[in-house]
Amino acid sequence: MSTFLEQLETPVPVVDLDRMAMNLDRMAAYATLHGLQLRPHVKTHKSPRIAAEQLRQGAVGLTCATLREAEVMSEVCDDLLVAYPPVGAARLERLARLPQHVRVAVSADDAAALPALSVAAKLGRRSFDVFVEADVGMHRVGVSNPDRAVLLAKAIHDTSHLEFGGVLFYPGHIRQNVPDQSGALAALGTDLARYIDALRDAGLPPRVVSGGSTPAAWRFHEVPGVTEVRPGTYVYNDRTTAMIGACDWDDCALTVLATVVSVAVKGQAVIDAGTKALGREPIRAEGDGFGAVLDHPEVVVSRMSEEHGILDLSKSDWKPRLGDLVRIVPNHVCIVVHLFDEIIGVRGHAVETQWPVAARGRGPAYEEVDKGPSRPRAVKDEAR
Ligand SMILES: Cc1ncc(COP(=O)(O)O)c(C=O)c1O
Repeated sequence: MSTFLEQLETPVPVVDLDRMAMNLDRMAAYATLHGLQLRPHVKTHKSPRIAAEQLRQGAVGLTCATLREAEVMSEVCDDLLVAYPPVGAARLERLARLPQHVRVAVSADDAAALPALSVAAKLGRRSFDVFVEADVGMHRVGVSNPDRAVLLAKAIHDTSHLEFGGVLFYPGHIRQNVPDQSGALAALGTDLARYIDALRDAGLPPRVVSGGSTPAAWRFHEVPGVTEVRPGTYVYNDRTTAMIGACDWDDCALTVLATVVSVAVKGQAVIDAGTKALGREPIRAEGDGFGAVLDHPEVVVSRMSEEHGILDLSKSDWKPRLGDLVRIVPNHVCIVVHLFDEIIGVRGHAVETQWPVAARGRGPAYEEVDKGPSRPRAVKDEAR
């Protein structure tokens, strides 16, 4: 017997399977067309099932942020990049313990991280590829100039169990509307060329130059030197991505299905999706509110409590009634996914499938004492 949207308990994240399939296809085709390697970031879906589909469509490997993601994705992928500073004994311990058949790369911006990383690799009887992370404008992490990149690349090269993998950057500062990105992309190209030339002159030409984000994803072929792209959000897209113009509204595959629970206050309707279903993410593009109604994009979630979302009806003729179902396109889909255990896959109104957000959370923060001395300490001690 079929199940329909109307039978689901809300709030719940639902994915339009046709839209997701189109999003996956389109990015795979873009990468192939421009000879770019695609290494999708799994932080958006946190699902080995979707990762397996990305790999089936030609992705060369996957990008992770957390060790939980890397552990879960190692079940479907043998080439993982953990694009996060390899700092902290427990993180290193878990890196070292990833299955032996998995090729593991990390990104770093500080030579001080290398001794412990090398020890972790040694204890894990493996080596790590290490990318030099460059700050190309986001000012989050990354070395600040090509000279520092060369020093770090040399240090990686000279450290046992570590291989210099190339240059990595995350252009999270490029959030203009897609047609307005030309200047930022040109500046990025100039900056990258300085890094690539300096490394080449030092005898360490980068094998891989890895960048990419969803807002800039469709124009990465315009940046000389880039060999690999790591978009994540594109699998589902979200309101911010649509407002930037990196996808159409109809490409937003994930919505939070919610129920109108109150229309008592004039000019608004209240849904059962608040911060614990939508997060409290501002839109990082033009617009306001914390999400918008899929079928009435002019109606935004203007305020929230934990379990209440206030729909502002002042700009709409739409008159929702008590009990109506609405689908909210979140501002930032990655945050929504990590708030739920499961995702429902739908085609039209029919529920077709569901899957767990398997790489959600962090995994255990410590090991039980009776398992003996914890190995993270061993990594720390040997690195001293
Ligand atoms: C290092 C890194 N690479 C790639 C991505 C993917 O970017 P997007 O979510 O815009 O697709 C992110 C996003 O946070 C990131 O931090």
